[in-house]
Amino acid sequence: MGKTTTSRDWTQIYAIYGIDQWQTLLFLLFHALLFTILSILYLIYFDAMGAFFESLFSVTGVTLPGGAARFAAGFTGSVTAISAVCLFFAAANFFYSAVPLHHDMALRMVSAVSDWSTVKHALDLGCGRGILLNAVATQLKKEGSSGRVVGLDRNKTTTLKTLRTAKIEGVGEYVTCREGDVRSLPFGDNYFDVVVSGVFVHTVGKEYGKRTVEAAAERTRVVGEVVRVLKPGGVGVVWDLLHVPEYVRRLQELKMEDIRVSKRVTAFMVSSHIVSFRKPSQHIVGSGEVRLEWRC
Ligand SMILES: C[S@@+](CC[C@H](N)C(=O)[O-])C[C@H]1O[C@@H](n2cnc3c(N)ncnc32)[C@H](O)[C@@H]1O
Repeated sequence: MGKTTTSRDWTQIYAIYGIDQWQTLLFLLFHALLFTILSILYLIYFDAMGAFFESLFSVTGVTLPGGAARFAAGFTGSVTAISAVCLFFAAANFFYSAVPLHHDMALRMVSAVSDWSTVKHALDLGCGRGILLNAVATQLKKEGSSGRVVGLDRNKTTTLKTLRTAKIEGVGEYVTCREGDVRSLPFGDNYFDVVVSGVFVHTVGKEYGKRTVEAAAERTRVVGEVVRVLKPGGVGVVWDLLHVPEYVRRLQELKMEDIRVSKRVTAFMVSSHIVSFRKPSQHIVGSGEVRLEWRC
């Protein structure tokens, strides 16, 4: 494991990067508050709710044992309160995953590459605002490397924001950004020493529906693209949600070496793993075709 920068205060990370998909956080918080208010109203007007359920039962003509209406009011009130707690928990987990955990995982990914001193070209796929990208750039800077990292994102506005965050982190000279689609990377074969990607690949192909064969095919295509642009001997490190076993299968099919999968980490309320691998120095591309490493 290589040495990396240490973890830092989440307020600093938030101040620089903000939060991706803040609408999701707002949605969760709004509903958590709504359910909290409903639970309090249930408590305050419990007798009135009991009477309401009683009148509801009598309208439907159902004859229930005494106290059933109060039980129904208590039950719905409890469900409302539990929903509020769950929604607050989901919002907290979302925030934690998007800010401090994201930063920690970026550092873990960087440390999955054993030797950064020889890295000249690194690539971050779906770089977003650059938490991972800047962690890589910071590592290159620490090594006094002449290496550079390219952040690829399909959104031009995002790439401009990313360049700003790189400047704030003091690694602007190590970072370039490029607009493009990860499904067809605008780079030649065997170019990068390291390719990384954080909480991104699972989003590819989601327009087909997350669990569809088409979406799986798109994600598989991305794994293929990562392998294609890696130099023989190069290292890939991907942190992603849900579909990591699928990537591992594809990497095995592509005959990658040293495939490692981290322990499960809960992020965004689902399971996530870091998978790292090395492209063999002699990579067999097609039947009978062997690409030799050009570096000596
Ligand atoms: C969740 S963010 C990634 C966060 C980033 N890895 C980090 O560490 O901060 C996902 C990013 O992927 C980009 N993206 C989505 N689909 C893409 C595609 N097909 N090709 C390239 N970038 C894409 C989005 O614009 C978004 O900025």
